Amino acid sequence: MADTPVVFVTRNVPDAVEARLRRGYTPRINDSDRALSADDIVAGAEGADALVVTPPDKVTAEVIDRLPGSVKAIGCFSVGTNHVDLDAAKARGLVVTNTPGVLTEATADIAMLLILGATRRAWEGQAMLRGDDWHGWTPTQLMGVELSGKRLGILGMGRIGQAVARRAEGFGLKVHYHNRRRLSPDEARGATYHDTPESLLAVSDILSLHCPATPETQGFLNAERIERLPTDAVVINTSRGDVVDDDALIAALRSGRLFAAGLDVFVGEPNIHPDYRKLDNAYLLPHLGSATVETRNAMGFKVLDNLDAFFAGQEPPDRVA
Ligand code: DGY
Repeated sequence: MADTPVVFVTRNVPDAVEARLRRGYTPRINDSDRALSADDIVAGAEGADALVVTPPDKVTAEVIDRLPGSVKAIGCFSVGTNHVDLDAAKARGLVVTNTPGVLTEATADIAMLLILGATRRAWEGQAMLRGDDWHGWTPTQLMGVELSGKRLGILGMGRIGQAVARRAEGFGLKVHYHNRRRLSPDEARGATYHDTPESLLAVSDILSLHCPATPETQGFLNAERIERLPTDAVVINTSRGDVVDDDALIAALRSGRLFAAGLDVFVGEPNIHPDYRKLDNAYLLPHLGSATVETRNAMGFKVLDNLDAFFAGQEPPDRVA
């Protein structure tokens, strides 16, 4: 019997996080660092008191049902929790936690990178240079869209949406938003509120998605909603791939109805829709939103703060189930 709680961790974690984990727990780490199947998760959980899971780990109702009775808590190494069936976890009496607040700035930075990369055709420029296909400056080469004076529509004005809005001010963008709750004037900092997503779409030269993946937001940006966007609009997604209807977005990028998209998240990661790779106007990143040393350490420490509270018999600060 281990002296400290056994924690099954589905991926390698940053060194500083692992060091702290080893001080308080008996870790069992999947150091293959590859996504685990349902069977692998269940097998890895054998004899564990808690699991630490990441967005690619699908902790479905079936997986939860098959977990050994020893498992009492699941710490999500993420703020998003759509990979865990929270209802099934609750029904089974499992405590589930996440990592809100600490990835706000890093994710907002990536949203800005996508906005700049998509509007200024950065990927095409890179491909030209790396493919030894640049024949010098010309007045019409890779002309993009200027940000200053454009309208940025933010769907979901939580922590990350607000952090993007703060950055956008510096680029001269006019911020519009839709959110379930209308922000106070202090929080909104002059951003224009829209009481429906449809009203927001109509003014979004650039639309940045920051809503969580829920049954209500599944496939939100479909063909009908894309049609509401201004001509040559740009779509940015750093939330979850599920919020976008891939076929509709790809069709609009291919036809030129949209100028470009900047995407950090995809349905079925890492197996993204293959047509995205064929589109010059899709600026793509592999889910890097929170990928800074500072943020990944902070996420790991938050996972551990929550486990510490749980095993000390206290209410974990970031409990979601
Ligand atoms: C999260 O925490 O949900 C992010 O998607 C990870 O970058």
